[in-house]
Amino acid sequence: MTITNYNGNVDLFLPSEYADKIAVEITSAKNKVDRQKLGQFFTPLSTAKKLIEFSEFSITSSEIKICEPACGLCILSCSLIEYLCTLNNIKEIELTCFEIDSSITEYTKEILTKLVEYCNKCEVVLSYTLIEEDFILYYKDVFDNNYFAKTYDLIISNPPFFKLNNYDERVTLAKEILYGLPNIYTIFYYISTKIINNKGLLLFLIPRSICSGSFFKQFRAHFINYIKFDKIHLYSTDEKIFDNHSVLHEFVFIKSSKVEFNDEYSIEITHSENIDSITNIRYKHNFSILKNLIPLATSKKDLEILQKLKTFSTNLGAFGFEVFYSKLVISKVEKLLNSTPCENCLPVIWLHNIEQAKFIFPVEHKYPNYIQNTENIKPFLIYNESCIFFRRYNNNDYITRIVTTAYKNSLNNYNYLAIDRLVGVLLNKSNNLPIETIYGISAYLNSEFVNSYFRMINGIINVTGEMILELPIPDIAVINKMGLNIKNGYNSEIDKLL
Ligand SMILES: C[S@@+](CC[C@H](N)C(=O)[O-])C[C@H]1O[C@@H](n2cnc3c(N)ncnc32)[C@H](O)[C@@H]1O
Repeated sequence: MTITNYNGNVDLFLPSEYADKIAVEITSAKNKVDRQKLGQFFTPLSTAKKLIEFSEFSITSSEIKICEPACGLCILSCSLIEYLCTLNNIKEIELTCFEIDSSITEYTKEILTKLVEYCNKCEVVLSYTLIEEDFILYYKDVFDNNYFAKTYDLIISNPPFFKLNNYDERVTLAKEILYGLPNIYTIFYYISTKIINNKGLLLFLIPRSICSGSFFKQFRAHFINYIKFDKIHLYSTDEKIFDNHSVLHEFVFIKSSKVEFNDEYSIEITHSENIDSITNIRYKHNFSILKNLIPLATSKKDLEILQKLKTFSTNLGAFGFEVFYSKLVISKVEKLLNSTPCENCLPVIWLHNIEQAKFIFPVEHKYPNYIQNTENIKPFLIYNESCIFFRRYNNNDYITRIVTTAYKNSLNNYNYLAIDRLVGVLLNKSNNLPIETIYGISAYLNSEFVNSYFRMINGIINVTGEMILELPIPDIAVINKMGLNIKNGYNSEIDKLL
């Protein structure tokens, strides 16, 4: 492959620089859809170097075994090994790489040959194995409970990230550790935690969702007893991380290591806007296995919110709330729908009925407002009583992570309401809360304070009912004051009451 706009001697490039140039050529020559299918976004050299700089590791032995799952053109391995060559103690490196795309591996081999030559010059012996197979299937035995083969001292990776469908062989294999719609990168991370040596180190560039609540909380629970997150750096915008091959994600660098059971420890967390900007915040987060939450603050204000939340002693779950989800799908009930009130009909609450601090009904919409009350819609019904509705799905028009409205039994001709699957309902089990408490809780959930908190623990992923139930809430007197002051309205005054 010829490197465009370069007339000089390629031998003068460092292996990592050479790999980076080849990456640019392949990216422009290859069909985008084919690359997306493999999650093939080569790690730009500047990002690779930042990851090495971020890791701040020290190595005392003279030999090291490294693995790069999903190696692509080995930009990460080259950057890492060039760095190791500057440390005087390293004499021997064994590198194992995995790459599934046979259309690029001839270049990977060429780059690795250059890397061996470079190491020779530095008096470091490098041997490598490039395994041209699927990393997950290669390590399928990891999912066997008796698996025990710790192999590597350091695993460095920028794994592919895309959703796998539930019929994918790899999902079947990893089903015990996956929840919801699984992203392939989680399986790469999990396998890596199983094949790392006891004193080993994992260096990953992955979507920030690994730190998020709900699904990822359950995923983390699978390795939390033997893996510790040492450092996390969050980048808010990805376009510089992947040179505009952008996908809608925020990314983190994560340095993690093996640990004997340790139920509480501190993680160093830092943030910067993008790869070129300076770190604007650095703090220690006390992580506990019991809570298993990793908020990623991006400003001093965020840190103040985290401090304040520590002073709140209860949450909505403890306060007697529960979540109702329905599985109502329009295609299955289409024949039962009616646009006007009818005999034996009930109102249906769709996503478009819920706005921030506003319950709008009826709405002229392609989805009719009423449904016939038959036996088969029973699972979709709630009693018509005061409650809080929230949107389970917010498209990009919503800058807030959470949108709720209090509902005060206004459709009082009906005993029940039918609920669409995209609407979540917070119901109080005892159903005897005064309306100002219901208003106050909804106001609190709509506040900038709570929105910032969910942004910290969930990024741009939609907030789930379980997360809402776990959210710390202020004293009930404060909640009631919010409810009395603003009713079911929304204004920026909410935050001043906190
Ligand atoms: C995000 S890129 C990493 C690129 C690499 N860090 C570099 O800069 O050259 C992910 C790579 O993983 C490869 N890949 C995707 N699925 C894989 C799998 N199941 N096993 C091994 N490699 C895979 C893709 O072809 C792609 O080259």
